[in-house]
Amino acid sequence: MSDKKSIHGIWASRWVFIMAATGSAVGLGNIWKFPYITGVNGGGAFVLVYLICVALIGLPILMAEIMVGRRGRQSPVNSLIDVASESNGSTLWQLIGWVGAVAGLLIFGFYSVVAGWILEYAVEMGSGTFNGSNMEQVGNIFNALLADPGKMLIWHTVFTVLTMAIVVKGVNEGLERGVRILMPILFVLLIVAFGYGVSSGHFIDAWHFMFDFEPSKLTAKAVLSALGHAFFTLSLGMGTMIAYGSYMTQKASIGSTALLVVFLDTAVALIAGLAIFPIVFANQMDPGQGPGLMLVTLPVAFGNIALGQLFGTLFFILVGIAAWTSSISLMEPSVAFVVEKFKLNRLQACLILGGLGWILGIGALLSFNKGSDILFFGKNFFDMLDYVTANIMLPLGGLFIALFAGWVVKSRISREEMSVSPLAHQFWLVLVRFIAPILVLIVFIYNLLQ
Ligand code: PFF
Ligand code: NA
Repeated sequence: MSDKKSIHGIWASRWVFIMAATGSAVGLGNIWKFPYITGVNGGGAFVLVYLICVALIGLPILMAEIMVGRRGRQSPVNSLIDVASESNGSTLWQLIGWVGAVAGLLIFGFYSVVAGWILEYAVEMGSGTFNGSNMEQVGNIFNALLADPGKMLIWHTVFTVLTMAIVVKGVNEGLERGVRILMPILFVLLIVAFGYGVSSGHFIDAWHFMFDFEPSKLTAKAVLSALGHAFFTLSLGMGTMIAYGSYMTQKASIGSTALLVVFLDTAVALIAGLAIFPIVFANQMDPGQGPGLMLVTLPVAFGNIALGQLFGTLFFILVGIAAWTSSISLMEPSVAFVVEKFKLNRLQACLILGGLGWILGIGALLSFNKGSDILFFGKNFFDMLDYVTANIMLPLGGLFIALFAGWVVKSRISREEMSVSPLAHQFWLVLVRFIAPILVLIVFIYNLLQ
């Protein structure tokens, strides 16, 4: 055991860690992104590859990140430095933490814009805008929002301030207090939304779409998206789980805790799909329409069913809360690092990093209107932020974390820190040393050759 203490604080219990880590994992990735990329990639084949990636790559890397954080008890960069030196490894491993902090800001840039759409929708839903609406009308409302940088800027700013207001208060007064209040509300709302979705719409069609495996739909692009999404949805590859692990109590078992977080995140994604696709099919809509999927289907559905105004509003509040508990975790690694490295206080660190995230978000929201012809490899700035982080930075970060935990950290140390059975530890070692890195590399190389 190491007797180091985090200068930022410690979660009060294992349950608080679970709530915080699940709060990070469960977010727009599950409710907004998973259904739409499942739709774009044709359904079942994508879902299967995604589940395989979560089990064989996501879970072991989640354990690796938590282990490194708890051993190092600092921000990702400094934890990597210390844990490397404890095993006589190179200080170059800290690069994972630097790249990860940048990835967190880049993700925040588009995440906050989408969260802003959600807040706008909660208000519109609550005020009855969607009552009795049809697809075309809601499609026009969504497109009008994308064409209105001022409106998006207001919501993006509100969301950035909400995020930083929690991060600035630190681990116990901010993050912990936030998730203790928000996560129970989130789960109650989720159950309500699911019950509501199942009871209305074409559930069986949705089930087949999500779970029937059609090999012909298994393109290289779909496999890369599934891999990238496994990292994105579990908040892996950028140091978030290293940071959260560094605040974890020493007694909590890393294996069972990580398994529970993965289970909850996966369950929420599948439930979100099973709530959204029935409505898509009931309205003969195209499941492959992209990022607008949830923002066009659900308002129509809620706008035309009894009590829809109430439940629709609750649903968008749910998504907003899920996004909020995730966005604080996008910022925490870099804020903790800046506090440690430059001896700044949290407020200064939050102003600098929140400011950077806010500016990136302005770029993202302008890419739907004024800046729509500024393209990076054929993608607008918003799509580029999403693509580069999810499909490149997070998988590469995860690859190196797996190699680090498997090959550099002495196996005596990882076994001691994770407190799992010797057999489970052996199994985990095989996954982080061989299986996860090889699978990530195969997907990468295959895509390069395409
Ligand atoms: N896991 C979050 C989601 O699924 O919405 C997104 C995310 C949060 C990614 C934090 C990465 C991260 F560090
Ligand atoms: Na997620």
